[in-house]
Amino acid sequence: MRPDDDLPAILAHAWTLLVRGGADRKSPIHTPVIASVDADGLPQARVMVLRKADPATSTLRLHTDARSPKVAQLDGKPVAVLAYHPAEQVQLRITGTARILTDDVVDGYWEQSTPFARRCYLAEHPPGTPLPGPSSGLPAWIEGQQPTLEQIAPARANFATLWIEVTAIDWLHLANSGHRRAVFRSVDGWAGEWVAP
Ligand SMILES: Cc1cc2nc3c(=O)[nH]c(=O)nc-3n(C[C@H](O)[C@H](O)[C@H](O)COP(=O)(O)O)c2cc1C
Repeated sequence: MRPDDDLPAILAHAWTLLVRGGADRKSPIHTPVIASVDADGLPQARVMVLRKADPATSTLRLHTDARSPKVAQLDGKPVAVLAYHPAEQVQLRITGTARILTDDVVDGYWEQSTPFARRCYLAEHPPGTPLPGPSSGLPAWIEGQQPTLEQIAPARANFATLWIEVTAIDWLHLANSGHRRAVFRSVDGWAGEWVAP
């Protein structure tokens, strides 16, 4: 049996890649594509930073601007996550349900972020707002500077966490000896089956 012919081991490895993706900025899984559907029924995909993957609860955590269009597209809705690990030659196509949390419960995640990372949330207009010319969208007084904790405090209102409850993982492994593909679904625990690559 090839090492990639064992369904439970594959599922565990997929979660290992996701956990590493959340913890290691150098992992290609650190910046997956998150896809939603907008109010016109059109697909919308964007790169986001994976902050944490938790196999015990089958959840992923990401951060975003509470004013961004993706928030309404995702909260309580189906979501797709796409990631590819070139060295492992593994593609992960994940589906799940998204949830946006902004209340006190997420204060800790705000405080864990560096002041530099928190600076984005000082942007004056919601992401996607038309601008009269090229601009970072940040107030001029903070441009190119690291904000103090006091300066950054009002930006907390714009900080949101995106939680994805993973319900299915479509795993594809490319190999010269023959590709392999398996689909795992979570219904009262995880179960996997082979599918044609
Ligand atoms: C490498 C990279 C990382 C990004 N990380 C995030 C992120 O963690 N959260 C986020 O909201 N947007 C992130 N973005 C920006 C999004 O791709 C997107 O442009 C922005 O959030 C607006 O998306 P929306 O109009 O669909 O809301 C990232 C972009 C890149 C290229």
